[in-house]
Amino acid sequence: MDDNQERKDFSSRESDLQLSVDEETLLDQLGISGAARRKFLGQSMAALLGTFAFNLLAKEQSFATLAASPDALFAPTAGVENAVQVLLKINGLTQRLEVDSRTTLLDALRERLGLTGTKKGCDQGQCGACTAIVDGHRVLSCLTLAASCDGKEVTTIEGLADGDNLHPMQAAFIKHDGFQCGYCTPGQICSAVALLQEAKNGEASHVTNDLRTIAQNLNLSDEEIRERMSGNICRCGAYPGIVAAIREVHSGRETALTWHFATDEEIAVALNEGKANEIV
Ligand code: FES
Ligand code: FES
Repeated sequence: MDDNQERKDFSSRESDLQLSVDEETLLDQLGISGAARRKFLGQSMAALLGTFAFNLLAKEQSFATLAASPDALFAPTAGVENAVQVLLKINGLTQRLEVDSRTTLLDALRERLGLTGTKKGCDQGQCGACTAIVDGHRVLSCLTLAASCDGKEVTTIEGLADGDNLHPMQAAFIKHDGFQCGYCTPGQICSAVALLQEAKNGEASHVTNDLRTIAQNLNLSDEEIRERMSGNICRCGAYPGIVAAIREVHSGRETALTWHFATDEEIAVALNEGKANEIV
């Protein structure tokens, strides 16, 4: 229903409040007359106004959640407070932005550049959903000011694939079922890609045993992978698949799938044996 129709309905309800013969009779039978009847009508109007305002507010809020049109994404932002000019090289493209100096990298990516692959989870550095790669290092983009990335190279999930060819880490996540709902996945994959670079650089983690013998091209154990990925939370609990995917790409050795879709025969056997819950 459009606003005009809604207003029409509202006005017609207003005139309805002149009351039909039946309603007049009912109010008479209830003994509501004179000042009491005017008060009753006034309260009915107030209730209608409240509903009308509530509907408008709900509509406004739902419009606010709609995606901006592609044309709007690069629109100059009129009257930016504390404006700073930022030059970013994002996924190989140089982008010049004028942003409020308090704008996070995450908001600049999502709201200004339309790169919505980087997800906003907690928005306070707790979940890792917003992980992006800046100059080869993973960062939590919700805690990183866009202005602090001036002149830097930013890679997001949109920049990992080479055309139609997925990044090996993306392909491994698919192969090893490293996601379910997928909300944390862009952050997981960016984190995993940067982790490979950390291993190449010989960067230690909290569980690295001997810091004195640390070398380039570290061979990461599953424990190391888990520790290094511990800032990326997956509420779906896809951790075994995530570790398997990273292990495969890190080692460079193809590993066997640890899961498969159940075949019709397997489903029939499981149902016969009363093990329907075990069907994957
Ligand atoms: Fe940045 Fe959760 S959104 S850590
Ligand atoms: Fe759903 Fe990780 S796949 S939160």
